[in-house]
Amino acid sequence: TPVPPFDLVIFGAGGDLALRKLFPALAQRNREGVLPEESRVLAVVRKEEDVEGLPRQIAQRLREEGIPADQVETFLRRLTMVLLDALKPETYTSLKKALGESERVRSFYLSTPPDLFIPICENLAKAQILTPTSRVILEKPLGRDLASARQINDAVARILPESRTYRIDHYLGKETVQNLLVLRFANTLFERSWSSRDIDHVQITVAETVGLESRAGYYDKAGHMRDMVQNHLMQLLTLFAIEPPNMLEAGAVRDEKIKVLKALRPIVGPDVQRYTVRGQYGPGQIDGQRVRGYAEELGHASNTETFVSIRCELDSWRWAGVPIYLRTGKRMAQRYSEIVVTFKPVPHSIFGNGTCDRLDANRLFIRLQPNDGVQLQLMMKVPGSGRLKIVPRQLDLRYSTAFDERTPDAYERLLTDVIRGDQTLFMHRDEVEQAWAWVDPIIAGWQDYTPHPHRYAAGSWGPSQAIGLIERDGRSWADPD
Ligand code: BG6
Repeated sequence: TPVPPFDLVIFGAGGDLALRKLFPALAQRNREGVLPEESRVLAVVRKEEDVEGLPRQIAQRLREEGIPADQVETFLRRLTMVLLDALKPETYTSLKKALGESERVRSFYLSTPPDLFIPICENLAKAQILTPTSRVILEKPLGRDLASARQINDAVARILPESRTYRIDHYLGKETVQNLLVLRFANTLFERSWSSRDIDHVQITVAETVGLESRAGYYDKAGHMRDMVQNHLMQLLTLFAIEPPNMLEAGAVRDEKIKVLKALRPIVGPDVQRYTVRGQYGPGQIDGQRVRGYAEELGHASNTETFVSIRCELDSWRWAGVPIYLRTGKRMAQRYSEIVVTFKPVPHSIFGNGTCDRLDANRLFIRLQPNDGVQLQLMMKVPGSGRLKIVPRQLDLRYSTAFDERTPDAYERLLTDVIRGDQTLFMHRDEVEQAWAWVDPIIAGWQDYTPHPHRYAAGSWGPSQAIGLIERDGRSWADPD
């Protein structure tokens, strides 16, 4: 279904995110006929040479994404370049002029560092560019701690209401993440056992093989906790553990998510050392290729973490006593993201010795990438008329084989949701602040207790301490084969 006609203004249009994700997502939607003819994408750049250079870069990027040449041309016709310095109010006249008197809904995507969020919103307001329906989209990370996040949220709230502020976390746009709610609330099978009664523990892994890429300036200041845990991992945890909202509607879903975040037991002081592990990759091998260590890539020594593992618990009726192990890092063995739910063992085994080594617990694997889908591990009898033999086997439901439809990129979904005015898959300010409130004491604790991250070899599953974190509880990480 086409979205209503719109003007989408992208600040930071020449940046990595815009080029890699935003323009391809928009071009894809355009190709599918979702963006009406009269809609426009306005790309804000600061340097004169980008006015001509950026469309060329965008075209090249779109071709790399497999968009046919005629569609690249069609998309470029939608594009208006705007020369503006985000920090200079007097330069906003160019944007005002480009937008003209159009009645279309205006959305402003701030794909910039968070310290530009306040000046951009203030300058948009001063230049009277915002209309009563305008929306602002804020990229993560929103600030670098609770105090700065509050400051941004307060300042933005003075200009735009919460109902027109879209805080993006692209993990919420991933198909499998949205499917978490469907899996739980459109089936009776799992929901009945979705609690400490039947679940032993949960693991959430988001592993990447990429390293610093071209983002040293940002990443070395932020670190992996701010880049991945405060947002993506916390959102996955929240949607996994959420109580049933009474309907699929932004307010109802977001209220329930906030409750989960509030139930997260704080990890403070010496507990930081006990329940968290931070690591940094050294040199190693990925896919048979030697790769440099983080400090080598960066060009100097650094105490920034590229890996985080946390054992956390939710203090709630449903989840009391169920550990949730988080693990995420750069330059790990495989690109692999998954939620693994391990159910409790059968209370009593009727199968005697020799039928199996042990009765493995049932496990539900919710795979985000690659091969997104759902697998359920069950114990099965090996066919044959000899002695009874029992082994674990998987029920395997992959998106690629279960559906003919293309799996859209997360940004395709989220960008059109903004234009449609649907906030369900965006974060409320309270969620972001609550997540910072939980993360801040851990980052502070690291300064006191583990100022130097543990080393791990690139291409491994992280530092040995992260393995110790789960093995101490008599459990182990469910690494892919
Ligand atoms: C971004 C982080 O939000 O997510 C990056 O800033 C990370 O560091 C990326 O690489 C991972 O996203 P995806 O969709 O590739 O899992």
